[in-house]
Amino acid sequence: MLNSSEFLRQMAEKYPEFWNRVVADHIKYMMFGRGHDFLHAVIVAQYGVLIAPDENTSRMAWFAGMLHNIDRMIGRQRAGTITVIARDCLGLVPDLKEKEIPMIIGAVLNHWRLNEPDDSPVLVVLKDADRLGNLTPFHPARSVQHMTERLGGHVVVDPRFVAKKADTEYGNNPTTMDDLQACLEWEPMLRLPKAQEIGRPMFDFLRQMLEMEQQRLDETGILANVGLLGPYFNEAYTHLKK
Ligand SMILES: [Fe+2]
Repeated sequence: MLNSSEFLRQMAEKYPEFWNRVVADHIKYMMFGRGHDFLHAVIVAQYGVLIAPDENTSRMAWFAGMLHNIDRMIGRQRAGTITVIARDCLGLVPDLKEKEIPMIIGAVLNHWRLNEPDDSPVLVVLKDADRLGNLTPFHPARSVQHMTERLGGHVVVDPRFVAKKADTEYGNNPTTMDDLQACLEWEPMLRLPKAQEIGRPMFDFLRQMLEMEQQRLDETGILANVGLLGPYFNEAYTHLKK
């Protein structure tokens, strides 16, 4: 069985230039105090290793996980620049095979998309690992960081979304409630058995958090009268998005 702490230490020691470059890029692009920081990159890389179906895929998925925040640094639409930065970083890994590099970069470029049947093995791992990496007991804190960065402001609890996700596009409602609901939709998206196993208790925990909040709003009589608060929240969002 893989020793994940030993693996991480070995990779950092074996590829110090790669490791230091990824750290430096996260500092350069101020990737801290935000939802997708260096810790997130390392967690996703490590989950990739834990859930990959074989050793070779797991190694490529580790590099892809370490690099997958590049789109958050410079913007998802800048595929050419993401490719250049990823290629630069991978150039610091001397024993990577030339044919492995396009598969790693392809995963970095496409990890945010929904599952596709023709996803490469590395992309399948990265998509599942990224979903696992976004699940944490501190989800509300990360959510505030992420939604504030994205939309300029955040409402932690909007009682309208405690029992169900909004019908609007993800991110249109800058609230932890809706963000949590969106996270729960990832559970059936996980494709790798090991990812499903690792994710299950965390999804259960997040569901329990929502249920407890729902209970709180129910016992205070707010849930049954949620429509009364709607105009207040709608107005609040227009101010947050300014
Ligand atoms: Fe991510």
